[in-house]
Amino acid sequence: MNIILLGPPGAGKGTQARRLVEERGMIQLSTGDMLRAARASGTEMGRKVAAIMDAGGLVTDEIVIGLIRERLADDGGAGFIFDGFPRTLAQADALGQLLADEGQTLDAVVEMRVDDEALVARITARSTCATCGEVYNDLSKPIPADGVCETCGGTEFKRRADDNEDSLRTRLMEYYKKTSPLIGYYHAKGNLRVVDGLGAIEEVAAAITVALDR
Ligand code: AP5
Repeated sequence: MNIILLGPPGAGKGTQARRLVEERGMIQLSTGDMLRAARASGTEMGRKVAAIMDAGGLVTDEIVIGLIRERLADDGGAGFIFDGFPRTLAQADALGQLLADEGQTLDAVVEMRVDDEALVARITARSTCATCGEVYNDLSKPIPADGVCETCGGTEFKRRADDNEDSLRTRLMEYYKKTSPLIGYYHAKGNLRVVDGLGAIEEVAAAITVALDR
């Protein structure tokens, strides 16, 4: 099963994608994670996108489509979870074509609905494990009291450079201008399933399970 998790910054796409990887053995393809990895390893592309990402803008379609194209050639196993991709209509068209080229289909697009106030609260409280990327939140999922990551045992945690008020304002604007039209696009294709992303992490996970298995 190939699915897209669609939603604004802080909607919980990464959190739920990681759960689906654990529960269903699916492969998470997060363009945000891929771009951050390119930056961390100092590639030319990573240097090119750094300023755009920190400011909250969108990286070019050409770059992110290229990243996904490379990864789709891997064995999808139980299927791919597209997390943070596609973000524009051009990316959505490209994904449809890439999947068709691999003889695959898109089975569901899960729109995670969360209001802006909750997004700001979530993002400003987010941190991640520097070793494995496990996502924590000062309010809803604090780093364990012993300071040890529950997933990998790592002891270093970091905050993202774009998790500040200015970048977040731009990221939200980009979402409403360029990404939210995908809701209508996938509704018209019959793929869209909407879940309330405002509940607790376990409640949202249960709603996604129902949406995927129905
Ligand atoms: P990306 O990394 O994709 O960031 P994003 O879309 O802004 O999404 P986030 O990772 O911020 O949020 P999330 O929905 O995954 O939430 P999370 O689970 O972490 O992209 C970063 C940048 O890369 C972009 O701005 C752009 O520059 C570039 N980029 C990436 N893809 C691109 C593309 N396709 N095209 C062009 N440019 C691209 O949760 C957030 C917090 O809330 C966490 O602390 C979590 O613990 C907590 N939380 C989660 N669920 C709940 C819940 N139900 N209740 C309470 N707290 C919760």
